[in-house]
Amino acid sequence: MERPRTASGETSRFEIERLSSDGSGIARTDRGVVFVSGALPGEQVDAEIVQRRKDFALARTTAVVRPSPGRVVPRCPVFGQCGGCQLQHVDYPLQLSLKAELVRDAMTRIGGFPPELFEALECVPSPLPWGYRNKASFPVQSLRGRIVTGFYRAGTHRLVPLKRCPVNAGPLDALYGTVLRALPSLPFSGYDERTHEGKLRHLVMRAGLNTGQTLLSFVVNGRLAAKGIKALVAAGASGRPTTLTLNHNSKPGNVILGTHTEPLIGSGRIAERLDGWTLEFDTTSFFQVNTGQTERLFRYAAEQVRGTDVLELYSGVGSLTCYLARGARVTAVEEWRSAVKMAERNMEANGLEVRTLCARAEEAVGDLHGSYGTVVVDPPRDGCDRAVLEAIHGFRVPRVVYVSCNPATLARDARILAGHGYRLASIRSFDMFPQTVHVETVAVLER
Ligand SMILES: C[S@@+](CC[C@H](N)C(=O)[O-])C[C@H]1O[C@@H](n2cnc3c(N)ncnc32)[C@H](O)[C@@H]1O
Repeated sequence: MERPRTASGETSRFEIERLSSDGSGIARTDRGVVFVSGALPGEQVDAEIVQRRKDFALARTTAVVRPSPGRVVPRCPVFGQCGGCQLQHVDYPLQLSLKAELVRDAMTRIGGFPPELFEALECVPSPLPWGYRNKASFPVQSLRGRIVTGFYRAGTHRLVPLKRCPVNAGPLDALYGTVLRALPSLPFSGYDERTHEGKLRHLVMRAGLNTGQTLLSFVVNGRLAAKGIKALVAAGASGRPTTLTLNHNSKPGNVILGTHTEPLIGSGRIAERLDGWTLEFDTTSFFQVNTGQTERLFRYAAEQVRGTDVLELYSGVGSLTCYLARGARVTAVEEWRSAVKMAERNMEANGLEVRTLCARAEEAVGDLHGSYGTVVVDPPRDGCDRAVLEAIHGFRVPRVVYVSCNPATLARDARILAGHGYRLASIRSFDMFPQTVHVETVAVLER
């Protein structure tokens, strides 16, 4: 392999060893590691160094000299510009094995577990590799006096305008198309994150793929006069969502949703069906984005539970809770108030009795006393707070089912539990996000 020269902007040849967690190829050189965007494991590529740091460099593929057998032509015209997908240039079987490798890598390097434990690790394919997403958030900006929407360019907040997105499910695509046509008639400008000016910040769209229901939310900066609301209702009605909401977000910065939401058409909620369960959610509460794969993931996670008393932390609107409550007494903890309200409605609608607590998991565990057979956790990307892991240890819980959307924090937390005497009993990944580098994993730890 040729040695990369020091100056940025120069092109060198690299052998790519593995994939990084952001979807770049990793090459090892005698000057340190190089993260090469657009390159795949096993490939030889020419790449331009775009940045050199003390211990590593960033490079961009300019030519693929020896392509991977799994390299394919990306389906989307804005692949490589849009930050949404990282793996459209990879065929689906290779995507799955790369994701399994990412999990294996995190569990051995960060988690400190022996590699033999992950020889059989598989990544379960998504029922739909395209058109699977039931939720999308589109930023809105003004460009040269025109209101535009799309997705962000990778690593930036610059907009890539978009006509349709091939990972979004059909109902979202249809809604997006009609709202796109209505946008120019709105009496608002798009939001500018730097100046905190402009009215319309985001369009949030959600769909119940098994119920045919859709939700459209306009996220606005500050309050709206009646005229503005009428214009939004007209624009929303042209897309015919089941419910249309207005979410107020007046905080500077890049957080998409504000805390206050008002329904303009319908109840502000829609339903999705997962196996036999019907689950309602609203604009701000979490719901898994890939309906078909969620069913597979939740069936599997529920099968891993032992005992009749289960503590479920990070329970959202109660989707996984339904699967757990079929065979056990469940205490479900969630911090987001509107999600807890949805969970209470959902348990009642599905004829289940569950104890729901609205609290931060790390605070709730201090007040809970029980002899749980299993603790199930499904935290956000940051993983579990240390206090949660210490409490699991303190409860002497025989079994932990950890559902994770981030292999790095799963590995960190599993290592902490291993330090408290837990062993990794099983691990399986699920491709919840085809065409992207993200992966969902269920790890079972036993005392
Ligand atoms: C990945 S979602 C999982 C939700 C649910 N298991 C599902 O699949 O629908 C994580 C959930 O944890 C909640 N959450 C985030 N931080 C929390 C905390 N510190 N304590 C309790 N819940 C939290 C979020 O509001 C979200 O509903």
